[in-house]
Amino acid sequence: MAKIAFLGTGSMGAAMIKNYLKGGHEVTVCNRTIAKAEPLKALGAKVAITPKEAVEDAEVVISCLTNDDASRDSWNGENGALKGNFKPGAFAIEASTASLEWIRELDGLAQAKGMHFLDCPVAGRPDLANAGKLKVFAGGSADDVDAMRPVLDAISAAVIHFGPVGSGITFKLIYNVMGALQVAATAEGLIACEAAGIDLRVAADAFSNGATGSPHVKLHSKNMAEGIINDPIMFTGKNRIKDTRYGIEVIDSLGAQSILGRGTIQVWEQMVEQGMELRNDSELIDALRAAAKTG
Ligand SMILES: NC(=O)c1ccc[n+]([C@@H]2O[C@H](COP(=O)([O-])OP(=O)(O)OC[C@H]3O[C@@H](n4cnc5c(N)ncnc54)[C@H](OP(=O)(O)O)[C@@H]3O)[C@@H](O)[C@H]2O)c1
Repeated sequence: MAKIAFLGTGSMGAAMIKNYLKGGHEVTVCNRTIAKAEPLKALGAKVAITPKEAVEDAEVVISCLTNDDASRDSWNGENGALKGNFKPGAFAIEASTASLEWIRELDGLAQAKGMHFLDCPVAGRPDLANAGKLKVFAGGSADDVDAMRPVLDAISAAVIHFGPVGSGITFKLIYNVMGALQVAATAEGLIACEAAGIDLRVAADAFSNGATGSPHVKLHSKNMAEGIINDPIMFTGKNRIKDTRYGIEVIDSLGAQSILGRGTIQVWEQMVEQGMELRNDSELIDALRAAAKTG
């Protein structure tokens, strides 16, 4: 069993932490808003006030946070994890969906402190995280990924190793651009059906059972057609925009095309224009309806 420090007790982080505690690992957690970490005490976690305190003696430090700013603060801020007394040769695992640029910088900072670094963004919503069935997209040396397999297996149904540091986040960002455009296409398709007088439940069923029926289309067409609103929020419109922006940066840096990625940002930005960016991604359909009314 490992001594783990976990930074970030949001929807995804808290679910992963519960699985580490269930698996018998010793876990110290830390969250910017400390009150959100407190409920994990009852499950056996220790709660630290700062990332620097949380990593005391840790063998593995994992973070799952909103974006680059949150990750930068938590790892490299004044009281960041990299300033703490983790075990020599400890592993640093970034599970946040962050930019490739920041992941590369963080790898350098962690290595300079003698840590092994892996980028391990995850796929799957909080329900899959709770069930320990995420997919981990790993980047790092084969030896480091193998050394961390028991730790990564505890939260996932599959660990897919893409190559050296940076390759996990590169794949995840490309994957999420494709995901964002499938959800946006679902909202646009249903709105067009609505305009044509087609029953949305019938349309969602036909999209889901036709050649269009990817897991994203199945989930979101049902939510959109039936007006299902996940509470608590599963994944926000704001995070869709964040991931698509980071994804376009990577795709551009590779000299590949992101015509659809750029177009999909314009669709998602209507959630911001309608003041809905902190709502569930499925609620994009309501933002598009509202935008159509306001012209
Ligand atoms: N939700 C999903 O379906 C899903 C799926 C796959 C991957 N992801 C990725 O997983 C990561 C976490 O997502 P989530 O859904 O768990 O989000 P969340 O519930 O909103 O949690 C975000 C976490 O980041 C912290 N945070 C935000 N800004 C910060 C800052 N400036 N400094 C320090 N901490 C900060 C929050 O702390 P506070 O509590 O203080 O706000 C919280 O711990 C994101 O990168 C997301 O893209 C999410």
